[in-house]
Amino acid sequence: MTEGEGHLQIKASLIQSLEHFSEHEIRIQVATVATALQAESPLEFAYQMPVLSMGKLLGVPAVELDQLAILVKAFTACITPGSPSHEVQEGIHAAPSLWRFMEERLDSTFVSSLPQKTRVANAIGLLWQGYDSTASLILHGMLALEHRLLPVDWNAFLTELIRVAAPIQNTRRFMGEAGVLLEQNVEAGDTVLLLLAAANRTATGAGLSFGHGVHRCPGQRLATLIAEIALACWHGSRTPAPLFHSGFKPSLNARIPLLEALQ
Ligand code: HEM
Repeated sequence: MTEGEGHLQIKASLIQSLEHFSEHEIRIQVATVATALQAESPLEFAYQMPVLSMGKLLGVPAVELDQLAILVKAFTACITPGSPSHEVQEGIHAAPSLWRFMEERLDSTFVSSLPQKTRVANAIGLLWQGYDSTASLILHGMLALEHRLLPVDWNAFLTELIRVAAPIQNTRRFMGEAGVLLEQNVEAGDTVLLLLAAANRTATGAGLSFGHGVHRCPGQRLATLIAEIALACWHGSRTPAPLFHSGFKPSLNARIPLLEALQ
């Protein structure tokens, strides 16, 4: 992510464009995706929901959403720190195709005030930023709801889930100047790792799962709506098989449960 005045202006336009989607429109588009999705496993369902939903909202035709999901999966693995080299290579290969794909299909009303290259880059940014994070929330939700009835108050349920099972566990900041932080000397430019998941558990820090300040996540509303509809569909319209939770996906910043359905 970039920094400074340019970042602030683009981010403001981006937030405005995301706010432009009404809750009604998001619910309809995401529900259409959820009911059409034929996923073979909880993991596939959780990963497909965010990218297909975001793609639909950004203007990708329904028949081409599967192709988008393949490209975003490859690209995301490529820029995720710690990915194995073959995934990085596949992602490098997918990046130009993803660019052309979105360039040709991006809805003309999406951040229409910005230059075309910036529009496409930011659309791709939304697709990858919401990929692992929203999948993680859906997977945590599947686990939390396994032996429960669907919540009456989705907002309360998801807010608490996001607090105790922060899908993104940490974020980074860089020191603007040298100083002392928690009795440690730090130099200008040093990286500081902020443990959002831990801060959520303190008396004063609750509510940091989407970050804070100028880099705060702009996707909170979308992520929670996508997760609500995905979970309602997963648990509501079928009788899910019992889940086997084998651990977590290796990741430097996301906590993503690996779930399989037991037959
Ligand atoms: C449960 C799902 C999600 C979680 C937990 C989450 C969490 C986060 C966190 C912790 C950050 C870093 C904030 C900071 O450093 O202060 C972030 C940044 C970001 N997120 Fe999300 N996110 C989620 C879903 C989404 C979705 C669906 C989108 C797209 C619509 C999105 C778009 C972004 C973008 C563009 C940034 C970078 C913002 C900037 O640097 O200014 N996120 N997110």
